[in-house]
Amino acid sequence: MCKPLIAGNWKMHGTTDSAVTLAGQLSATWKASAVEMILFPSFVHLAAVREAIAGSAIALGAQNVSQHAAGAFTGEISAEMLVDQGCKYVLVGHSERRALFGESNETVAEKFKAAQGAGLTPILCVGESLQQRQKMQTVEVVTDQITAVIDAVGLDNVCRAVIAYEPVWAIGTGETATPEQAQEVHRAIREQLGDLGVATTLLYGGSVKASNAAALFAQPDINGGLVGGASLEAEEFLNIAQSIEA
Ligand code: PGA
Repeated sequence: MCKPLIAGNWKMHGTTDSAVTLAGQLSATWKASAVEMILFPSFVHLAAVREAIAGSAIALGAQNVSQHAAGAFTGEISAEMLVDQGCKYVLVGHSERRALFGESNETVAEKFKAAQGAGLTPILCVGESLQQRQKMQTVEVVTDQITAVIDAVGLDNVCRAVIAYEPVWAIGTGETATPEQAQEVHRAIREQLGDLGVATTLLYGGSVKASNAAALFAQPDINGGLVGGASLEAEEFLNIAQSIEA
């Protein structure tokens, strides 16, 4: 059985106050269920959000991690530091990291390895650009991104992580993949993982909202969502979370 997840990626938004308020609203309403809710605040809000969700069913995650364990890497945050802050999950290879901060498939694989080695569950983000989709390269791009990580850590380790398919053209644009488009890529990922991947959690991300979530999550190979913009509003995010079939 794939564990259903709903993840809120807050990106570079908010203040300590707004982060604590949002986390408090979510933890007051969200009850333990088969679906796990995870919040990804900015690094500087991790401790405050950890306090706000203490004792609730909500888990904590970070948006990025260094591939290095420790040392002279000014401005970086190690996997061990994230564990120390109470994180259980970390996003790895988000398209904004790949596109805006030059993270290659190889760097993403190193980060995945560092995260898993410290005991975090990486959420490996993959997805094609609009141009790649138009050239019919979607499955090739996504499977290559996953292969780079399999080459670094082995298929079994990739299968015990989480993979989020996020078409780049759908992130923050209001444009969502249709349930059929998303399912097609999720199915290809499931096939790539083979027998070891039957229970791997696969998330969809890219302009998920309460109005389109149920149809996406009803697809057989979609086990939940990675939500950006719509995770910044408690009611909207809770409505999305409630539409996941556990
Ligand atoms: P979005 O972001 O929901 O705002 O499109 C998703 C993501 O970047 O994870």
